[in-house]
Amino acid sequence: MKNRNEVRNGLSKGGVVLVTGASHGIGKAIAALLVEKGFRVYGTSRRPSGEQGNGLKMLQLDITSDQSVESCVSGLIEKEGRIDVLINNAAVGLLGAIEETTIEEGKALFEANFFGTARMVNAVLPGMRQRRSGLIINFGSLAATLPIPFHAYLSCSKAAVNTFTDALRLEVKHLNIGVCVVEPGMVATHRGEEFAQLRVKKAISDYAEPEQRAFAVIEKGQSVGGDPQPVAETVLRIIRSKAPARYYLVGVEKRYVLLSRFLPQSAIEFLVSRHFRLTK
Ligand SMILES: NC(=O)c1ccc[n+]([C@@H]2O[C@H](COP(=O)([O-])OP(=O)(O)OC[C@H]3O[C@@H](n4cnc5c(N)ncnc54)[C@H](OP(=O)(O)O)[C@@H]3O)[C@@H](O)[C@H]2O)c1
Repeated sequence: MKNRNEVRNGLSKGGVVLVTGASHGIGKAIAALLVEKGFRVYGTSRRPSGEQGNGLKMLQLDITSDQSVESCVSGLIEKEGRIDVLINNAAVGLLGAIEETTIEEGKALFEANFFGTARMVNAVLPGMRQRRSGLIINFGSLAATLPIPFHAYLSCSKAAVNTFTDALRLEVKHLNIGVCVVEPGMVATHRGEEFAQLRVKKAISDYAEPEQRAFAVIEKGQSVGGDPQPVAETVLRIIRSKAPARYYLVGVEKRYVLLSRFLPQSAIEFLVSRHFRLTK
């Protein structure tokens, strides 16, 4: 008989969920919603501040460190006996033209967004394989399909997460482990100073004007853009679903991604240029 928490049956209340990057933004909204719905939710932060008022337990985790990932996952399995769902939400951003971005800055972003995702997957899979049950929800971005100018490394890291997820889905399907990607559009999670901190160090004057206009569009999207709640609700729907789909696009910008499947590349470039005001 199948365990009632098995992914194929949809996870029921009481299932153990690990949400990386739950101190802020989308991860925080996901963790709060899942606590409210009765799951046993563990969030993570590099600098956790203990148990949150709402019953969310916070664990220390740096996804760029093998040792931190190993100790977070093994500690949770020791405590709860299993992890039913991993939500690979933690990531970092980086703004700047490709030429302004050093290889070291680009590598640091990939270390978190891509290798951090892979580290977490490798850490939870042994337990999920053993139980022949589990669900991994990776976080991509609509930017994986429609790369954002002056946000190239972030866009590339999310495209890598998509490809990784597609391969992983095929590798673990026979083990009854579900894998999917959530791809949000612009969600309001960063404001003013926080946004400015994402800028690479080097500035080349030839890029200054279009870059400023593109940043203004991105900043507006991330400060007054979409609410994290629809993303959290999408995650809840995935957890409850019997057979999670491959991709879940969320946000008003998803219409551009859907359109891009039918339009020639020249039309897509025109739309993206116009959206990010690359030309005056
Ligand atoms: N916001 C958007 O417009 C948008 C659009 C598309 C996709 N996304 C994706 O959605 C996810 C959440 O985005 P968000 O905007 O909500 O992010 P956010 O507000 O910047 O929060 C990022 C979270 O990740 C954690 N984090 C960062 N680096 C980490 C590391 N090395 N190890 C462990 N945790 C780390 C942070 O926790 P601590 O600092 O406490 O460690 C924080 O809780 C990300 O994957 C992002 O790429 C966001």
